[in-house]
Amino acid sequence: MTLPDVTRPDGARARSGPWWRSAAIYQVYPRSFADGDGDGMGDLAGLGHRLHYLADLGVDALWINPWYPSPMADAGYDVADHRDIDPVYGTLADAEQLIGQAHRLGLRIIVDIVPNHCSHTHPWFAAALAAGPGSAARRRFWFRPGRGVDGELAPNGWRSIFGGPAWTRVTEPDGRPGEWYLHLFAPEQPDFNWDEGDVRAEFLDVLRFWLDRGVDGLRIDSAGLLVKDPALPELDDDPLAADARAADAPAAQGGGNPYTDRDGVHEIYRGWRALVDTYPGDRALIGEVWLPDPERFARYLRPDEMHAAFNFDFLACPWRAQDLRKVIDETLAAHAPVGAPSTWVLSNHDVVRHVTRYGRRDTGFSLDHRQIGAPTDLELGRRRARAAVLLSLALPGAVYLYQGEELGLEEVENLPDAARQDPMFHRSNGTVIGRDGCRVPLPWSGEGPPFGFSAPATPGRITAPPWLPQPAGWAGLTVEAQDGRPGSMLTLYRTALHLRRAEPALGDGDLRWIDAGDRVLAFDRGDTFRCMVNLSPKPVTLPAGARVLLASTLPDAADVLLPDTAAWLHP
Ligand code: NOJ
Repeated sequence: MTLPDVTRPDGARARSGPWWRSAAIYQVYPRSFADGDGDGMGDLAGLGHRLHYLADLGVDALWINPWYPSPMADAGYDVADHRDIDPVYGTLADAEQLIGQAHRLGLRIIVDIVPNHCSHTHPWFAAALAAGPGSAARRRFWFRPGRGVDGELAPNGWRSIFGGPAWTRVTEPDGRPGEWYLHLFAPEQPDFNWDEGDVRAEFLDVLRFWLDRGVDGLRIDSAGLLVKDPALPELDDDPLAADARAADAPAAQGGGNPYTDRDGVHEIYRGWRALVDTYPGDRALIGEVWLPDPERFARYLRPDEMHAAFNFDFLACPWRAQDLRKVIDETLAAHAPVGAPSTWVLSNHDVVRHVTRYGRRDTGFSLDHRQIGAPTDLELGRRRARAAVLLSLALPGAVYLYQGEELGLEEVENLPDAARQDPMFHRSNGTVIGRDGCRVPLPWSGEGPPFGFSAPATPGRITAPPWLPQPAGWAGLTVEAQDGRPGSMLTLYRTALHLRRAEPALGDGDLRWIDAGDRVLAFDRGDTFRCMVNLSPKPVTLPAGARVLLASTLPDAADVLLPDTAAWLHP
């Protein structure tokens, strides 16, 4: 198939409206994307070298996970300096160059802002430790005396989202055991106190720093957690108490939880929006908001707050027509009143890759229900993943693609314990397997590890293997192996992304459901585009006279839709 040449130098899509309402956004997990200096860790040189691959793929924007200086206790979500780049990735000048290079290729850049917490090595936290109890430096965090005779008990019973207590006791400057500080994640990630003006001013300045460098969007980490009830009350029924919970698990509804989705958080994002709106171009705020209540979720997307937020309900939904239809309808209904675009997400760096999820008997997902080790039919998973991406790309709104899904990578479940780095694994003594399995470095070329992941400018300069071992069986999944091959996952993604760009009915807008039976999803976008997904065990006949633009399994022109396949049609 010849792809329409719709790449535009300004990255704009072939339709009106701000880019973030319709974009296909590719998530780059920098340590696992491409390694340009041979040390086994991805970096900006590697990413820069592969930008053409991403432009050719047909995505509109890149979201880059944290790249800041960090001791990497949580893979960079423990930020030590918000205005620089970790040396393992490169320099600030490299980042500035990369933003320029991406823009020249028509790719927008979204950086990850981590406002709930910082690294325990951040200068503010070091100053807080040194300044002692009662100091202004400590008020930027949540320091409290302990309970019990000698303060030996944590201030309350809150649990960390990564397992274990959410409090750690410090040694005071005089050498005695002293106060405790709050960390909803690892102890290396102290929570900021957003009641302090300093913290608010500092983050506005951090936003300015990156907006001044031309970034197009800011992904806001753990966006619902920033504001805490200063009374720090015990939870009746702690929704985060289970050690098995992962990042930002759902919490109590209605703003009643002492650290999740408190009403006061919206004032912060209003301030951020006001700042972003002073910049030229369409700059976007994109929230990571895990909430069970769609109405509470939508509040973050009111016209004076964020522009968009990740749709985790779609990601978690089982591969069943009725469930998918319900999630799609609820998503559209929740976004409509606030006028925000829906987003569609199948995978990210925190969840089990969807090829694996869809290959299981139970295809649903939740952060504490990862089903690691459950029997998995990867062939079935890939077949469904092919159908799922055509579904996502056809739905109204923006789409997020996680690196490696375009290659059909599966979750790597059998990593050796010694290689695992996720604090969830270590803090649970290995009882929670964690998120390393979806973070394995990408396979680019060749017959064995490192599969072209480490490609230093000087050949032979490879000094370390990839930071997580790649499965030996990935030779058939490399970019090189799939490039230009009809029927490969990569070819499907490229074809679909380019068609989506050229098809004015796709991206932002509405959909109209067509009745095609209980186990088939069928909807029209405009008058000339239909998406059909067959989730039944039997083939389904396509409408008479319909022209197949693209189908998730070959051949494209068949007049039936096989089970677990999707097609894009001109009806
Ligand atoms: C959500 C991020 O996606 C996750 O990777 C991280 O561990 C937590 N927030 C804490 O920053």
